[in-house]
Amino acid sequence: MSETYQNYIGGQWVDAASGETFEKRNPARTSEVIGLFPRSLAVDVDDAVNAAQSAFATWSRVPAPARGDYLKMIGDLLVERKDEIAFEMTREMGKTFTETRGDVQEAIDTAYYAASETRRLFGNTVPSELPNKFNMSLRRPVGVFGIITAWNFPVAVPTWKIFPAIASGNTVVFKPSEEAPNSARLLVKVFEDAGLPAGVVNLITGAGEAGRALVDHPGIDGISFTGSTDTGASIAEAAAREHKRVSLEMGGKNPQIVMPDADLDLAVEGVLWGAFGTTGQRCTATSRLLLHVDIHDEVVERVKARAAELRLGYGNDDGIDVGPLINQKALDKVLGYIEIGQQEGAKLVMGGERAEEGALAEGYFFLPTIFADVRPGSRLALEEVFGPVLSVLKFETYEQAIEIANEVRYGLSSSIYTRDVAQAFRAMHDLEAGITYINGPTIGAEAHMPFGGVKQTGNGHREGGWEVFDFYTETKTVYVDYSGRLQKAQIDNVG
Ligand code: UN1
Repeated sequence: MSETYQNYIGGQWVDAASGETFEKRNPARTSEVIGLFPRSLAVDVDDAVNAAQSAFATWSRVPAPARGDYLKMIGDLLVERKDEIAFEMTREMGKTFTETRGDVQEAIDTAYYAASETRRLFGNTVPSELPNKFNMSLRRPVGVFGIITAWNFPVAVPTWKIFPAIASGNTVVFKPSEEAPNSARLLVKVFEDAGLPAGVVNLITGAGEAGRALVDHPGIDGISFTGSTDTGASIAEAAAREHKRVSLEMGGKNPQIVMPDADLDLAVEGVLWGAFGTTGQRCTATSRLLLHVDIHDEVVERVKARAAELRLGYGNDDGIDVGPLINQKALDKVLGYIEIGQQEGAKLVMGGERAEEGALAEGYFFLPTIFADVRPGSRLALEEVFGPVLSVLKFETYEQAIEIANEVRYGLSSSIYTRDVAQAFRAMHDLEAGITYINGPTIGAEAHMPFGGVKQTGNGHREGGWEVFDFYTETKTVYVDYSGRLQKAQIDNVG
């Protein structure tokens, strides 16, 4: 009998009103059921939004540093439960235990960072144009946020959104991916055990219908979403009708450029981690390797040799480098791109098929795959695969490399390996991406730095860093006139 879990609404663990559930399995061992989770519908969303709205009345009035104290407590509990939560995350979504520990660590960093920012929710004081008048701006919470997240960073990414949201005095309804409901539950359990007041964070699990109901709910003031570019577009469209604010983090097709003067050992190490870490299922994954002709063949050979040594398996076992894909749909999608690559005339250097040796047959494992001679402008060069598939493209000049790097509709992360300082600085400006790494792979974002992309990766907002607080707060402008007379701006002070 598998365990049945519940939603968390207004501080209570409750079933979906319909009593319906969905099943979640371990992608590395598909016979293993993680649990049954509520299949929430509009009525459950409604309950959760109501709970968040009534909590907002008190939570928004709690002094910000006191809200920060809860975040500090949450961070402390995450530290205590790091291994326990990471183990369950790996069981649920497949990436290795080392990586899920990193995921929890990112949440810990975000908790402490957000806690510290509650003492720094700055406004401005600015001189007035009139005498005896004081001008200032301050930050106000917005209201209730809908948080809709992907499964690949099942703890870190929700906390990028939830922590700054509640630090700013908002309340939230959290709808995690149906591929990571248990990780979400364990995270929310931490909030409960830290004593976070009822209704400040509400959890509803379910499929797209729950997400849709959340986006459409009139009681929701804003949405923060991480997921596919297409879903992001439909969320923005729906939210626009009621002028809800929306922050979107979507796809990527991130390039790593290697110049001929680069430290090749470092570049090879970087691309292995960038392309095959998290089985390539990161929006920041390195999916394109752009190699200068002079070093092309050598680097391809070296990456191939190293990738062949990667050990695939269940991420909670010792010595595993690469876990499975998340589900059958992902497997089919990746297989589809292998076919596309071959049709487009790219050269399959390694991999290209499901890994089915021994116990691997029990999961959605896929061999690390490299395509060389990928043509700029081809589908393999342009489209997000979200799997362990690296496309290699060749270039002759720096200008060409930049042109290829920028030809995609996405713009999340990017990287260049070079020892030439001038070239590195040029690239910081030339690469069309929200994030550029110099001599590092395309992954590795830190909690206190802005995270987000340009072009069709995002809609102009950033998570992480200070910037995220702009999204979760409303600016109030205040004028205090202590002159004792009516002063008219633009009139009294001219001429
Ligand atoms: C994501 O893939 O959705 O920089 C987020 C990184 C991680 C975050 C990735 N710290 O790859």
